[in-house]
Amino acid sequence: MKLLVTGGAGFIGTNFILYWLAHHPEDDVINFDKLTYAGNLENLTSVEKNPHYRFVQGDICDAEHVSEIMKGIDMVVHFAAESHVDRSILEAAPFVMTNVVGTHVLLAASLKAKVRRFHHVSTDEVFGSLKLGSTDTFSERTSYDPRSPYSASKAGSDHLVRAYYHTFGLPITITNCSNNYGPYQFPEKLIPLAITNILEGKKVPVYGDGLNVRDWLYVEDHCRAIEAVLLKGTSGETYCVGGTTEDINNLTVVKKILAMMGKDASLIEFVVDRPGHDRRYAIDWSKIKNELGWQPQHNFDEWLKRTVDWYTVHGEWWHAVKSGSYQAYYKTLYKGAV
Ligand code: NAD
Ligand code: DAU
Repeated sequence: MKLLVTGGAGFIGTNFILYWLAHHPEDDVINFDKLTYAGNLENLTSVEKNPHYRFVQGDICDAEHVSEIMKGIDMVVHFAAESHVDRSILEAAPFVMTNVVGTHVLLAASLKAKVRRFHHVSTDEVFGSLKLGSTDTFSERTSYDPRSPYSASKAGSDHLVRAYYHTFGLPITITNCSNNYGPYQFPEKLIPLAITNILEGKKVPVYGDGLNVRDWLYVEDHCRAIEAVLLKGTSGETYCVGGTTEDINNLTVVKKILAMMGKDASLIEFVVDRPGHDRRYAIDWSKIKNELGWQPQHNFDEWLKRTVDWYTVHGEWWHAVKSGSYQAYYKTLYKGAV
């Protein structure tokens, strides 16, 4: 089987390619990635000489290039996106371009190339925000209510993917997943930002009152969920994917990391809240469990500790990433507060 993985040099795409080549060594994987600030080929040096792996630098908005690369592809696994909510608040246009227009370019090319499956990797953020203290969860039946330019652009892409199924019969599947953590995550996101700031002797910025809740999933569990959907999922269907954490708020996550690193809460800096900050996410992943037999296998405390250890050992990786344009972004976003 020949897979086209878009955005394979980013956090989840990298983990997915490493996972797929290890578990399906007979398959061919093409990694099509623009290499934005978030894409890093260093992540994939262990497979760069594998004859079943090929990297192609390209933009999913470039219809000619995409249609050329799509020839002979069996399955598309679409990760490429602008993925960080805070950046979408600073500048929304690249999110609309890559996440909406780029996804449409891929859909049109996939239809023309008659691919067997177009799998779209999406987010639980399309469902909006749950009430703090409630027991409500997001499921495949939840109405869309995106509240940031990032989540609105992902919602737009989800609608286009379903439209290509209903209107043109393109075989599609979608996963809406919660917050991932693990190796190779760009240190703009909460967990790697907290770990690397602590390693640098800096404070950890916590937005607002720190009581916002996220549903945390170890990245390999997400890769396994996508594998289950590709191999056993039904065309036209959506599957919600989430972790085993139960209403852990950001402050608790940061305190756990501080304790694992032998530090105390004095390193927490409460900073101005994110505009439109979603209060609570929680996922009901019973559909993928009942229909495809998937469930998360990685316990949060153990794998958070392993993630802390990974960043501690891979200082060279994140130091390189945190230089250059990252510094300018950090100053603009946190305005010198941390
Ligand atoms: P990331 O920001 O780490 O990586 C994105 C990758 O896409 C980068 O390698 C980048 O170079 C590439 N890219 C960006 N624009 C491109 C373009 N125009 N053409 C080709 N490549 C382009 O993102 P991530 O955290 O790995 O997320 C991957 C996907 O999973 C996204 O679609 C995201 O919405 C979704 N998702 C992420 C999470 C999470 O917690 N990180 C959770 C649920 C869903
Ligand atoms: O839910 C899935 C989504 O998870 C994905 O679709 C996104 O691509 C991914 O970025 C992530 O979005 P979040 O906005 O939830 O992740 P982030 O790591 O940016 O923030 C997690 C929580 O931590 C959120 O409530 C905001 C808060 N936060 C974040 C940063 C960067 C802070 O308190 N301080 C910070 O400095």
